[in-house]
This record gives sequence, C-alpha cells and structure tokens, in this order.
Amino acid sequence: MSGLLIKGGNQLNGIIELQGAKNSALPILSASLLCSTPCEIHNCPKISDVEVSVRILESLGCICQTNENTVKVDAFNAKGCSISDDLMCEMRSSVIFLGAMLAKTGEAELSPPGGCELGLRPINLHIDAFKKMGATIKEVCGKLVCSCPDGLKGCNIDLPVASVGATENIMIAASTAKGTTTLRNAAKEPEITDLANFLRSCGARIKGDGETVVQIEGVDRLYGCNHTVIPDRIVAATYIGAVAVCGGNVTIKKACPSHLHAVIPYFEQLGCNIDCKSDEINVISNKKLQGNIRVHTTEYPGFPTDAQPIMLATATLSRGTAVFVENIFSNRYRYVAGLNKMGASVEVYDRVAVVRGVDSLNCATLDATDLRGGAAMAICALAAKGRSRITSVEHIDRGYENIEGVLTKIGADIVRER
Ligand code: EPU
Repeated sequence: MSGLLIKGGNQLNGIIELQGAKNSALPILSASLLCSTPCEIHNCPKISDVEVSVRILESLGCICQTNENTVKVDAFNAKGCSISDDLMCEMRSSVIFLGAMLAKTGEAELSPPGGCELGLRPINLHIDAFKKMGATIKEVCGKLVCSCPDGLKGCNIDLPVASVGATENIMIAASTAKGTTTLRNAAKEPEITDLANFLRSCGARIKGDGETVVQIEGVDRLYGCNHTVIPDRIVAATYIGAVAVCGGNVTIKKACPSHLHAVIPYFEQLGCNIDCKSDEINVISNKKLQGNIRVHTTEYPGFPTDAQPIMLATATLSRGTAVFVENIFSNRYRYVAGLNKMGASVEVYDRVAVVRGVDSLNCATLDATDLRGGAAMAICALAAKGRSRITSVEHIDRGYENIEGVLTKIGADIVRER
C-alpha cells in the first residue's frame, strides 16, 4: 500500500500551477459520449478518477487517447450501455454516465453506487428525472436497468435539492432529448457552467446555467469540440491551507479566484494576506494564525462542503475557536479523529464541529478516510513536528494530481513510499 511521508515544519515558498477541476472533467468526459465526432478535452487533471472515467468510456466502445493533460474521445462507434460493477466500485460518480448512456443508446445498466465515506449518497433525484423524461427504470438483481426505446422527452423538472450530479446528468441527457427541458432549483456550481459551455460548443442549446432555472432545448445530434477544463477551486483552497499553516509566500497560477470568493475571506480572517489577479492567487502567511470563524457549508455560491476539511485543518493551528456546520453531507468529519491524534482539539456533534486552535501538532501515522479528509491530514502533517505517514493515499490520488511533486516544488519535505 503506498503512503505519503511528510516531515513537517518547512515554510512553503514559490510558484505552482493549478490543475484542472476533477468535478468538471468527469461530467464533461461523460457528455463526450454523445458526440458524433471526436472531442479534445484539455487541462484534464492526471488523477485516478479521470483514468477510471476514460476506462468507462473505452468499455462503452469509445476510442480514447490520453496525452499529458489532454484526453481525446471518439465516441462514434460507442454502442455500450452498461458499466461493470468493478468500474462502478472504483468511482461512485460513475452515475454521471447514466444520462449520456440513456440518451445515446436508449438503454443503460449499472449498479447503484450505494453509500460512501461521506454518508448516504442516494441517486433518487437522477432516477426521478429520467423517469419524468420517459425512461422506465427497474431494479433487477441489484442492478438499475433503464430503458427509453423511443428516446427521452423534454419536460419540467423541479429538484427538491440543488444536486450537482443530478443537474449535470439532466443537462447531458436533455441536450439531445425531444423538446425542451426546464430544470428548476438547479445547482449553480462553476463546474455546471463549465459543462454547459462544453455542451454548447458541441451544439447543445442551453440557457440559464449558473442560475436557478436552466432551459435545455434538445437538438438532433452533438458534435465534438475542443474544450479546456476550468481550474480546480478545491485544490486551490488546499494549497492555500497548506501555506496558511506552514507560513510562506506562494503564488498559484492558472487559478480562477472568483470561484473562491466564499473561501478566501476565511483565510484572510485568520491572518493570511491574499492577493488575487484575474488568473492567479498570491498567499502570504507570515504571522501566527488567529481569529474566531463560523463556517456553514452550502451550495454554490456559499462555502463549499469540499473545502470544509481544508478550512478545518487550517483552523486547528489558529488561535481562537472555529465552528463548522456541515449542511451537505451527513458524515463528513471522519478525518477529524486523525487530526486529534496529532494533537488537534476538535469536538464533533453530529453536523457541527468545534475547533479550539492549538499552538502545534505532532507527527502521527494516519489513514486517509476520504479524498478531502486525506488532504486535510496532509495539511496538518506539513505543519506538524516530526515525520508523519499517511496511508490509503489512493483516496487523495482520486483528486490531486502529483500532490507530492507540487508541494516539493514549494519546499515541503514530502515523499511517496510504494
Ligand atoms: N442527493 C440526494 N439525492 C440524489 C442526489 C443527491 O438526496 O439523487 C443529496 C446528497 O445525498 C447530498 C446532496 O444531495 O446530501 C448534494 O449532493 P450532490 O448530488 O450535489 O453531490 P454529487 O453530485 O454526488 C458533487 C461532487 C462532490 C461534492 C458535491 C457537493 C462530483 C463528481 N462530486 O457530488 O465532490 O461534494 O457535488 O458540492 O462532482 C469531492 O470532490 O470531494 C466531492 C465529494
């Protein structure tokens, strides 16, 4: 099992380039299945979730070529409509292929994703929407079997929760459905707009993305395009958190600071100086962090749940009290036990976590519980006294491209053991 060995205490200084967004790349790769000519998707992060998505596309009959951060997808001969259990197990978000498979072939079969590290992850909203669009969906021997031999039809859909994945799945499927789909209470995350931009470049007719009501007028077919994935706002927040606790001066290039407008002020409240230009973020942390903060996670444009573990890790080393309320996922504090093992003082009461900042942390051996929880552990280890070891790094590798290389470049002592 591979691990990260991190010797804490180094300041971080220098320049890094931000990777593309995992949560944009995945739905865009799925949507490429609908294109009748090849797509070139640039700035795809080299992470395991993208590798799994490419394997899913290949298993459906696409010809894919990956060259550094560009993935080419030719879906012309893709006739597959079923994702194997192995691939479903490797990536919960494989459900994002459901709408594309149904729209392309009139059929889709996959095993429901079940729960995960963050709590229950139901897909009822995806299923209800596709039923409303004319699909029949049954559970047969533990598999979801979906069919719409006459194609999907546009309709009105009101989401009870502004689900990111359901919004994306509906937008993809509705792009080639008959008639117009009006989606109310749609998610507004920047990754939704990125997907809409990709689909529009392929010929889709979509209006209102980034707002509450999205209208998708179905077209006969989509064509391939060249698209560049937006920067990963959560990875940016992670590197800001690392500089905040270690001290130093780091510039993050190829970023989109406006996507972090709900996150950056909290780092500033704790004492970091953050200067944003149109596509870069400079972070200076040159004094003991201090301040009392209250963070409520909510849908975009609010504070993102994915940045909650990052902000909480930063708060463990900040003088004062920080209160977190997790409103999106039911079980997103599992990583906290690892931080407490290092000497942090965090108490969790259901969806609330109270952090009392300490002066220093000690090294420890920690098992990454999930993607962002693992990143939170890495942030604390970078600032802790001594050499920490983080195991189950495969969680971190799902979303961070070459995390040890990026951090080494700015002065961290971090190596991967294999
Ligand atoms: N929900 C339902 N029914 C559904 C779908 C969602 O009840 O059919 C609930 C969920 O249980 C959750 C809430 O709605 O409580 C929001 O879930 P959402 O569907 O928005 O999440 P997702 O699409 O499964 C994406 C990201 C997550 C991110 C969330 C929230 C991808 C691949 N994943 O998940 O990213 O936390 O949106 O912003 O885009 C991560 O990158 O670490 C990560 C977990």
